[in-house]
Amino acid sequence: MNGVKTVALLGGGVIGGGWAARLAMNGIDSLIFDPDPEAERKLEAILANARRAYRKLSLAPLHEGGAIRFVGSVAEAVAEADFIQENAPERLDLKVKLLAEASRAAKPDAVIASSTSGFKPSDLQVDCEGPERVCIGHPFNPVYLLPLVEVVGGERTSEETKRQAGAFYESIGMHALQIAKEADGHVSDRLQEALWREALHIVNDGIATADEVDRSICYGPGLRWSFMGPALTFRLAGGEGGMEHYLRQFGPTLKSPWTKLVAPEMDDALIARLTEQSDAQAAGRSIRELEQLRDDCLVSVLQALRSNDYAAGNTQRAYEERLYEASHKSVFSESDDLTKPLRLHEARVAPEWVDYNGHLTESRYLQIFGDASDALFRYLGIDADYHAEGLSYYTVETHISHLLEVAAEEPLYVTTQILDSDEKRIHLFHSMHHGGDDGQLATAEQMILHVDTEAQQACAAKPEVLARLGRIAEAHGALVKPELAGRQIGIRRKA
Ligand SMILES: NC(=O)c1ccc[n+]([C@@H]2O[C@H](COP(=O)([O-])OP(=O)(O)OC[C@H]3O[C@@H](n4cnc5c(N)ncnc54)[C@H](O)[C@@H]3O)[C@@H](O)[C@H]2O)c1
Repeated sequence: MNGVKTVALLGGGVIGGGWAARLAMNGIDSLIFDPDPEAERKLEAILANARRAYRKLSLAPLHEGGAIRFVGSVAEAVAEADFIQENAPERLDLKVKLLAEASRAAKPDAVIASSTSGFKPSDLQVDCEGPERVCIGHPFNPVYLLPLVEVVGGERTSEETKRQAGAFYESIGMHALQIAKEADGHVSDRLQEALWREALHIVNDGIATADEVDRSICYGPGLRWSFMGPALTFRLAGGEGGMEHYLRQFGPTLKSPWTKLVAPEMDDALIARLTEQSDAQAAGRSIRELEQLRDDCLVSVLQALRSNDYAAGNTQRAYEERLYEASHKSVFSESDDLTKPLRLHEARVAPEWVDYNGHLTESRYLQIFGDASDALFRYLGIDADYHAEGLSYYTVETHISHLLEVAAEEPLYVTTQILDSDEKRIHLFHSMHHGGDDGQLATAEQMILHVDTEAQQACAAKPEVLARLGRIAEAHGALVKPELAGRQIGIRRKA
């Protein structure tokens, strides 16, 4: 399912809009059907939040944005779609009708997934043509940031559909959790709802306010839950005795009447109390402001988890590695023209890369040259498998010369000349140029060292990498040495 180019979104509200944003950031086009005349305006706000969050989250080169188009009918949305994601209101009759209509107009091999929070796929696929390709792909809000998607099949769903849906979601940076058996509320919402029922009782009984309930989670268990679920958390709660000790020690507590499980009566008094407390908690901040606060915190959590390569951070890291691989596609071939510096990296100056002068800020030069070095490594055949063996190239020295300013949205490319190399080192020279007039903007001379990342020691690169490097270095040896290569910083004075 990695050949998905166009996705039909049936419903473009909170969730449909979130899908559109994630798809656009992955270079996939969306065709949206939503009867709400305000849907386009609301989507713009979601897209703006998503762009803002992605810029903060990662330096990885995103795909060129996928196009988003609103269409006037279900048939128009699905006719050319490779994948269909339904995100209409949570009403069974509406979803059954909508999915059936979509299945009749869709391409026969298009997977049809529903974002439903609680309905079972067997109840949704009843009137569909080709029910074997109907499944659930249940995401979490905001879809553009949270990687989890629960994939659930119904009685008539094929295993191939679940596999294809999972592969597609993973290709757009998500963590597809295949659920073995359908159930009302799937897994994650069932757990969330149990917590929410207890929260409602706690507020209703005057034990704590909405804000105090939130603090009881955010300052404690919630911090743990972003990387360890209840099972691993409670294993650690058992100390050295682990899970078995924990269950034997605290098992009896589960019989005591802590939890009520059945939801309280949602009468006017409880609704008024909770609404009032929630308004007080928001303290005048709009939904958009709170969404941005949520996104900023999620970005920080994802970044922290990424540096630990754990839980959602592992998904994010693998996704970024794939983005780099996709943007640096060229790999050495014997027929390549090596009679000039290599042109392996291109970029566009993102708006947040410029400083108060309106020009590319200093640290971004290093980032761009670092990306150009990554493109060279990829060209030499260094990929995720090579890194998995504990081998990598590290930059040990850089000298940047700034020649001309460059403004936001301007296109760039970098050429790379190998000045010297041996089995552990590459001495190279990057030259950054304007994508329009080819003017030279900056240069960077770098020394790169091949390392065993576990031992934290320099070591020889693998023979196949050295063979490619040798071929390039030999050809580049015949090129004129760049004027700025070997330049030292200093104030030149007349003798
Ligand atoms: N909000 C969440 O946190 C969340 C999380 C995961 C899954 N979901 C699920 O996603 C689905 C959508 O929820 P939401 O929160 O985006 O709701 P929403 O109200 O924000 O969006 C629903 C959209 O569907 C449109 N719509 C109404 N009738 C339609 C029709 N016949 N065809 C196409 N579109 C139609 C509405 O105009 C609206 O824009 C639900 O099934 C919900 O359970 C929601």
